[in-house]
Amino acid sequence: MSAQTVHIKSFGCQMNKLDTALVGAALKEAGFGFTDSVKEADVVLINTCSVREHAEERVFSHLGHLKHIKESRPDMLVGVIGCMAQRLGGELLARDEVDIVCGPAQIPQITGLITKTLQEKKKTLAVTEKIRQAAPENPALEEFESVYDSNDAQVPAQAYVRVMRGCDKFCTYCVVPYVRGPEVSRPPEAVIGQIKRLAGEGVKQVTLLGQRVNSYKYNTCGKTYCLADLLYMASEIEGIEWIRFVTSYPAEECYDEILRAMAELPKVCNHLHLPAQSGSDKILKAMNRNYTASKYLELLDKARDTVPGIAIAGDFIVGFAGETEKDFQKTVSLVEKARYKNCFIFKYSPRPGTTADKRLQDTVSIEVKKRRNTELLAVQERISDELSKRFLGKEVKILVEGLSKKPHLNSAKGGKKPDLCSKNGDLRPQLVGRTETDWIVVFNGPESLAGEFAEVKITRTRPLTLFGELARKD
Ligand code: 5AD
Ligand code: SF4
Repeated sequence: MSAQTVHIKSFGCQMNKLDTALVGAALKEAGFGFTDSVKEADVVLINTCSVREHAEERVFSHLGHLKHIKESRPDMLVGVIGCMAQRLGGELLARDEVDIVCGPAQIPQITGLITKTLQEKKKTLAVTEKIRQAAPENPALEEFESVYDSNDAQVPAQAYVRVMRGCDKFCTYCVVPYVRGPEVSRPPEAVIGQIKRLAGEGVKQVTLLGQRVNSYKYNTCGKTYCLADLLYMASEIEGIEWIRFVTSYPAEECYDEILRAMAELPKVCNHLHLPAQSGSDKILKAMNRNYTASKYLELLDKARDTVPGIAIAGDFIVGFAGETEKDFQKTVSLVEKARYKNCFIFKYSPRPGTTADKRLQDTVSIEVKKRRNTELLAVQERISDELSKRFLGKEVKILVEGLSKKPHLNSAKGGKKPDLCSKNGDLRPQLVGRTETDWIVVFNGPESLAGEFAEVKITRTRPLTLFGELARKD
């Protein structure tokens, strides 16, 4: 029998991208082949996200498509992994087209689950029962994570490294604590050992991941390690040139130490993702965020004082339960004051099982949510535009990610193929990279630059993108 081929589709956050990379590495080692075409795959895996209803709807629509394909290829095996698998369990397995349902904690078993399902030809469910009561330490997961390469399949020379799993914060709107389970930090030696191994494989940039990465804490040998300690230790590793970490929670604990590490360590990128979610103290309280808008702004001031030039990104939810126009205007005012590089804005989506869904009424209509979303985006776009213009004429250092997926230069409309011709008639492919402060830079250059550092002179800007000419390769 020739090797079985797998197609993996991934939805959601960086955590999911990392899980997808780990699953891919495990399946490769087990002898599976890979295909980009769903129609040719023997096994189709979907790594799913539950954070908003829309993310789940996209998965259901994809499953509908797979059901159709399965009518002519009944032997094709379909597995749903990740957050939706944990949240919906048996309900997903009951669908005709689904053969395997595997939660985030069962990902180390994925190869065995596929083999068993193929051999026994019966459906398999692997999720954690009573996830909040499950033992937080998970040796199988830790071993899996340490063994498999977590190189980012899409960006050469970049890798994600999880430093902690789960979340104990229970923001009232958020499903994560219910699908990813209790918080557990990984031992510092495991994290550092992994970064060393990745550096040995040519990785230049690592992104440390945690749902609340700044609450990383691990007691060993009479010392409590925090995220700042990991940053110092990771900085010592030869070959690693840039270190990032996401996502931070706006809290004072360990904040000064982390900012000091950013200021002192040249390898730690001056970029902070610090979601505020709202600018109204009433809404922040209803969200169980434990800070006020003014406290949040103080944290931003401190970051800018300690780390000059730091770029800050935010997340906001508009139309949360009970959000009035006045509350929303407080969010607008916070965004004006915060002067983010960019922010991610989401329309509140009630998630089953969360406190907000159980106790608060979803009072804001979809039309109003959409309008607030558009209005807030416009405010941020003006700020991003002002900030991006400061780069005009300057040279920036970037890590090149690869071919630009969107044709940025000539048309406003999207399209999947990289643009080969630019306004200046440059026929080299259009590449994309990021600065240390996470600005996206688009320029023309040889594809061989992917995974390399380069200097680009900025000649044109858009609110979220800088355009330029290759000055030199580092
Ligand atoms: N509805 C809308 N947005 C949400 N987020 C988390 N849960 C929800 C929800 N129920 C947003 C938050 C978080 C980001 C990852 O997703 O802004 O920071
Ligand atoms: Fe969700 Fe809040 Fe935890 Fe972030 S900190 S994952 S928003 S519960």
